[in-house]
Amino acid sequence: MSPVEGLDRLVAAELQANLSGAIIGRKIIVLEQTGSTNDAILRSATPTPKEGLVLFAEHQTAGRGQRGNRWESAAGKGLWLSILLRPKIDITNSPRLTVWAAEAVSEAIRHEFSLETTIKLPNDIQIDGRKVAGVLVEMRAQEKAPHLAIAGIGINVNQSLEDFPAALQGRAISLAMALGQQVDRQRFAVALLRNLDRTYRESFAS
Ligand code: BTN
Repeated sequence: MSPVEGLDRLVAAELQANLSGAIIGRKIIVLEQTGSTNDAILRSATPTPKEGLVLFAEHQTAGRGQRGNRWESAAGKGLWLSILLRPKIDITNSPRLTVWAAEAVSEAIRHEFSLETTIKLPNDIQIDGRKVAGVLVEMRAQEKAPHLAIAGIGINVNQSLEDFPAALQGRAISLAMALGQQVDRQRFAVALLRNLDRTYRESFAS
């Protein structure tokens, strides 16, 4: 049985059709399952990739969080994605990318759902003091080319409280829990990628 049977699905071609002309979303891949999208995106990229590739997975079996933590990625219930970038910054400035991604996610949630969000620096997006999303940026130095950055974003979208492990139930929240109704992940993914693209261009694009 497919791990996301009965749930709504992300469709790469439809996402991409809504992002024409964008840097972020130039190419979109949706995998059914992978270990971590931050690792899978490097395997999916060409040897000298252009920036803007976005890779979603419906399920991660080894999602990574900050400080070596595990990131829970319930199948078909969240947005688990990584973006390959070549930002115009020095490798020592990678924390700027974390702030950028956290602000873009937070803003997209506020704008799409009129929910109050706060950012707990450096990388947590919260609603009512509970974590709804997180960001994990990893950079790879390149010789004679802008460095590669992988911006990994995890957003809890349609989980109910029981979908989270008991240890997280007091600290985690999904958009559906905050709204009292399920969310169209495909539609929110388009809004999120558009916001990431617009704000990335302002600060980091060549
Ligand atoms: C954190 O808050 O600790 C960061 C969480 C980042 C999770 C996302 S899910 C998509 C991408 N792939 C991963 O393995 N981690 C990030």
